[in-house]
Amino acid sequence: MDLSTDYMGLKLKHPIIASSSPLSNTLAGIKLLEDSGASAIVMFSLFEEQIRRENEAFDFFLESGTESFAESINYFAPIDTAHKGPEDYLNLIRKAVETTDIPIIGSLNGITSEGWIDYAKQIQEAGASALELNIYFIPTDIDMSASEVEQRYFDILKTVKDAVFIPVAIKLSPFFSATGNMAKRLDEAGADALVLFNRFYQPDIDLDNLKIDPRIDLSTPAEIRLPLLWIAVLYGRIKAALAASRGIHSSTEIIKYLLAGADAVMVASALIKNGPRYLSVLIDETDKWLTARDYRSLDEVKGVMSRQNVKDPAAFERVNYIKVLESFENPFMSGMVNNRRDNPFI
Ligand SMILES: Cc1cc2nc3c(=O)[nH]c(=O)nc-3n(C[C@H](O)[C@H](O)[C@H](O)COP(=O)(O)O)c2cc1C
Repeated sequence: MDLSTDYMGLKLKHPIIASSSPLSNTLAGIKLLEDSGASAIVMFSLFEEQIRRENEAFDFFLESGTESFAESINYFAPIDTAHKGPEDYLNLIRKAVETTDIPIIGSLNGITSEGWIDYAKQIQEAGASALELNIYFIPTDIDMSASEVEQRYFDILKTVKDAVFIPVAIKLSPFFSATGNMAKRLDEAGADALVLFNRFYQPDIDLDNLKIDPRIDLSTPAEIRLPLLWIAVLYGRIKAALAASRGIHSSTEIIKYLLAGADAVMVASALIKNGPRYLSVLIDETDKWLTARDYRSLDEVKGVMSRQNVKDPAAFERVNYIKVLESFENPFMSGMVNNRRDNPFI
């Protein structure tokens, strides 16, 4: 089975990319991801705040206690030593490019288009094959309109596209009132790929100490549904490549994303949880599943279950939601009599 894929002009031996995460904090970590089979690596992000030395979001990543991050307890520790500043970031990319044979994708994480974006050029000069822009903007200012929020994305994209010749991907949030239209306009504005989706930091409340709990949990497979929907809807309708990010914990999620129309898939949580070597399991199992079904190349797989290729495109739409709701049976009203005995609420 030929698993090779084209991701925004990068020729990858298979579609499984190591997503931006602390696993790429060190050269040893990057080498391990390559040895484990990653077809490309998206570096951890260089933050606008880090460059500006304001450090708000950055401090969050540094200081969110490793203890509160149950499933990846060891993975925050190296950040302290690795994130010394933009120079260290560029040096790490330089070394990674020299010592690996896979594309290294730089990652910039910010919310404005001024000043810090010069680093896009320097990441290119350091040898990165492409750049991913993570516009991690949470519009808590309720006077800011949707079009102002959207304009930020276009301003950042334009500034970066004007500065570099390497391909530029945008890691998008799903929180737009017209996500599909936003994707279309970013495509028209020159985005070479869209990464769907960013996982936003959503703080919890610590009831014991009445404090805000700044926690990031690892993803679960159930989270693929939202990116899956939008990849299936966008497939064949925009020029930009589509990368799926979220919820990949086994080959099942990978195959679903490919059938929906992803050109590449990105994995972070599963590698943090199981270790980078888990990549080889993901690759083997994806290969086996597709080979067993007589697929010969990834092109035969991509988009088979996209909105434009399924028999019933309405399956992706509201009408289907209504059907699902109508067919939903109340388990406490039929069949599950035994539950009643054990359930004090019925
Ligand atoms: C500990 C941790 C650190 C992350 N750091 C970054 C980062 O620096 N930049 C970025 O764009 N995404 C970052 N991400 C997001 C991942 O790249 C990925 O998009 C997200 O976790 C969804 O994929 P997953 O379900 O495979 O984890 C991070 C995720 C985790 C869990």
